[in-house]
Amino acid sequence: MHGKESRNLLYFNSSDTPPVMVGEMRDAGWNVKCTGDVDGAANIIDKYAPQVAVAQFDGQKGSLDAPVENLFRNVERVEWVALLPKNCMGKNYIKQVVSECFHDFHTLPPAPDRLLATLGHAYGMASMKWGDASSGNELQPGEDEMVGTSPQMLDLFRNLRKVASVDAPVLITGESGTGKELAALAIHERSGRQHMPFVAVNCGSLPNGLIQSELFGHEKGAFTGASQRKIGRIEAAAGGTIFLDEIGDLPIELQVNLLRFLQEKTIERVGGAGQIQVDVRVLAATHVDLEAAVADGRFREDLYYRLNVLHLKMPALRDRQGDIEVLAKYFFDKFAHEKRRNVKGFSPAALHLMNRYTWPGNVRELINRVRRAMVMCEKRLITPDDLGIDRRDCKRQVITLEAARGAAEMEAIRNALQKNNSNLTEASRELGVSRVTLYRLIQKYELAFKPENMSDAV
Ligand SMILES: Nc1ncnc2c1ncn2[C@@H]1O[C@H](COP(=O)(O)OP(=O)(O)O)[C@@H](O)[C@H]1O
Ligand SMILES: [Mg+2]
Repeated sequence: MHGKESRNLLYFNSSDTPPVMVGEMRDAGWNVKCTGDVDGAANIIDKYAPQVAVAQFDGQKGSLDAPVENLFRNVERVEWVALLPKNCMGKNYIKQVVSECFHDFHTLPPAPDRLLATLGHAYGMASMKWGDASSGNELQPGEDEMVGTSPQMLDLFRNLRKVASVDAPVLITGESGTGKELAALAIHERSGRQHMPFVAVNCGSLPNGLIQSELFGHEKGAFTGASQRKIGRIEAAAGGTIFLDEIGDLPIELQVNLLRFLQEKTIERVGGAGQIQVDVRVLAATHVDLEAAVADGRFREDLYYRLNVLHLKMPALRDRQGDIEVLAKYFFDKFAHEKRRNVKGFSPAALHLMNRYTWPGNVRELINRVRRAMVMCEKRLITPDDLGIDRRDCKRQVITLEAARGAAEMEAIRNALQKNNSNLTEASRELGVSRVTLYRLIQKYELAFKPENMSDAV
């Protein structure tokens, strides 16, 4: 799901032409993340700390508005390379931004060798200025890795590979923080579309009035404030995958547009004159019960069936046997550079509590708690208190009668052995069993004891 290289590149395309050379960049070892909007770029920068960013814009002022310019000016530790059409080289505001914020620029279409060489230089420059990727920021290879060894996750990995190989929509369901977005990315990166953009849209966080133009784009003058043509996120994902997160929040009046897109593979920009053919695979996710939403009339049934051709269900963390510990240790290593020096790992009590905790926020919560504990911990090992887990939120331990008996038996034997200095004859007399029986029990419970009288015990 990721390359060995840790050379990350943000491809920010605010123009209304498709991105170029993404495949070649990937072949050259770049981990390329594409986006068409400022929020998406900010997320990618947060998550991957790219050393190099390519910005493609056109001569229109809208593709270089204030938020975009802010991105170029204020993001730290990124070398920017611009891609622009020849005809905008003469424009003053473009010259100014490019000369002040950019490492270099190429005109479209770029000569492949030259652009790759520039990206290499930009990377070298970034390393020189801010140090190697591995020292300092969070960037690490394996950023997108899905970790898990539980039977539920092994099952999921198998299904993930199966759905990746076909082109049908996938509906990913599961509680918040279970890794739905990560799964969507994994599908994309294992699909034939891996070299094309992966565009994520959170349908719940877009303002209602804007969602249509965000998804489908708009033409210049389509509404007040639409001073430029804007390509929507579906179009920005052309050739690749669009991930519609929190699809249950998509307003009902837009559901019909999405349905049309799924059926006909065409979109229409707001204020646009006609249908545009777009080849994009749709992945959708939700943490709500869509079937209930359909029953309530909040979600179109036809759209539900269209989206739910293939289904992946992300298991809740509390149900994944063994994964809590595996993930906790994985994130401990991942954030090792942030921890206090003395902290070496988790105490048995902390691990025990984590295993019993119900993790309502799933993996996202686990990451936050582990990360915080690593900073707060004052001892060598992280304690339950460092994790801030309330014992009341833990599953009550279910203990079988057999286990209870075993624990009591073990305790009694341990006491008798200790009291009698590991003398089997004395201890067995006190416990009222034969020496042979006592010896067997010691083996059964794997009790440590000094085998002084062992030879005559058997
Ligand atoms: N199996 C996993 N292995 C490693 N990291 C994971 C795993 N599942 C989730 N994460 C991480 O947990 C966080 C929440 O995952 P996300 O995909 O955003 O969840 P959701 O979309 O279901 O709310 C992200 O930082 C993601 O990288
Ligand atoms: Mg999510």
